[in-house]
Amino acid sequence: MTIDRRAFIGRAAAAAAAGSCLTSLTPLTSLTGLTRDAPALRAQTDDSRLEILIDEPIGTIAPDIYGHFVEHLGGVVYDGIWVGEGSKVPNVDGIRKALVDELRKIKPPVVRWPGGCFADSYDWRDGIGAPDKRPRRTDFWADTRPSLNRTATPGAQRFDPNRFGTNEFIRFCRLTGAAPYIAANVRSLPAKDFYQWVEYCNAPAGATTMSELRAAAGDREPFGVRYWGVGNEPWGCGGNFTPEEYATEFRRYTAWVPKYGVDLKYIAAGPNGGDREWTTRFFRTLTARGPGALNAVFGWALHYYCGSTGDRNAIQFTTDDWYDLLTRADRMESLVTQHWSAMAESDPSHKVKLIVDEWGAWHAGSADMPANYLWAYPGSLRDALVAALTLDTFNRHADKIVMANVAQLINTIHSLFIAHEDKFAVTPNFHVFAMYAAHQGGQSVRTVFSSPSIAFARDGRAQALWGLGGSASLREKELTVTVVNPHATDARACAIATKGAVVKEGRATVLSSTDLRAHNSFEHPSALAPRDTAVTPRAGSLVHTFPPASVTRLQLSLA
Ligand code: AHR
Repeated sequence: MTIDRRAFIGRAAAAAAAGSCLTSLTPLTSLTGLTRDAPALRAQTDDSRLEILIDEPIGTIAPDIYGHFVEHLGGVVYDGIWVGEGSKVPNVDGIRKALVDELRKIKPPVVRWPGGCFADSYDWRDGIGAPDKRPRRTDFWADTRPSLNRTATPGAQRFDPNRFGTNEFIRFCRLTGAAPYIAANVRSLPAKDFYQWVEYCNAPAGATTMSELRAAAGDREPFGVRYWGVGNEPWGCGGNFTPEEYATEFRRYTAWVPKYGVDLKYIAAGPNGGDREWTTRFFRTLTARGPGALNAVFGWALHYYCGSTGDRNAIQFTTDDWYDLLTRADRMESLVTQHWSAMAESDPSHKVKLIVDEWGAWHAGSADMPANYLWAYPGSLRDALVAALTLDTFNRHADKIVMANVAQLINTIHSLFIAHEDKFAVTPNFHVFAMYAAHQGGQSVRTVFSSPSIAFARDGRAQALWGLGGSASLREKELTVTVVNPHATDARACAIATKGAVVKEGRATVLSSTDLRAHNSFEHPSALAPRDTAVTPRAGSLVHTFPPASVTRLQLSLA
């Protein structure tokens, strides 16, 4: 089946403008349905269209878009990652083995550490040397009250023993195959400590006192850390700077840092959500002495969270809340384009790329997790859709985004894992990362979706969300297509056209449930997991039914 692109887009736009359903452009050739309950049966004909313009490449999807974030916050490090060598919990040199094993399955490209807000209170010297001599410090988050009126208790989550420091972080990265991304302290340590941390990590064996300190901790050879964050959220916990002040600090911290043959990539701390002015003013000041300053910036790091409102949480929400959260997550699309255009005012050739080094859905903590594990919850199918539509957004902007780090890896916010002592489970977000790993390093190609939009209410006011969304990437003749159907009850039968190629064969993996609140727990760790189904192309194209409330990955072989 071939669809003329101009006609397709024209009809899609007209249908969207009318807020209506498209009528079939071509006869239905096949309907590959997933077995579901009554709601799926509502889609009797192909009410949606997806055109994949494989001859319109956007850019290579940087694997680092699938990156992670680890902060000394709540139960992320202690006991999410670090359980200790003597623990009864299976571990590799003190690092939770189950986490390493599961993480390796999703090919983690990069991990950001040690914060977050914690980074600007962290002295890296506290975390090196003999473990029993390391100081115990008050964690940045020590006074943050756990939700649900629970009481914080003393413990490693509040008073950091510094058992997990630079060498342990690098070991964790090596075990999982990820590159380290270290966020340095700008608020409370001088620039000298920044370049000496670089020296500790990257100076050749035996060259300096710093490399000897590293060797004494068991790592003779340099770590070769490339990614260095210059502070975190300097507009807030990172120092309450103005963009002008921060731009000046950025220039100073990154000036004349020894490289030791490593291509250092500095990441500047960017805006909070839609704060376009932070972006404009930073770049204006940075380039005040000439555009050469842009050479020092590898990425401009945006942070954006969506989350529950009112007394809702990760599991307790209404159908309107479901749509509301997905709509707020979808704001990532406009944030990317808005900050990209602001950057262009001082950097018209886009030397500096975008990074989103904190993103996710942030809910209140769950009562099943210890009180000190701030914002720890298992996440639900709704969070999986947040992950999927956000990763699709990043894929579609592969020409702009070079890295993203979901917040955070384990036991807090939009985590992929939950753990407590010997209990461990993957969340629905993990499954999305596993399904989407196939996009890493692929060529992102343009997609055009058209589907009936969804009406819902927020605070009594009418709102709308798109009917189907997603992204596609190509590796030679293998096409990976990921699609989100956000409709709570209706399946979407979608005619899929691959312009300029024919689909030979394919398979689908779907994450979905009839229960919008489906989630995993320590007792039921596989309550929500993806299923594989067949895809049957007919005459080189296909019609695929996307179940309600689903994330689907299609893997199609093209001729
Ligand atoms: O991820 C939790 C916190 O959110 C981070 O420490 C901070 O950077 C952001 O505000």
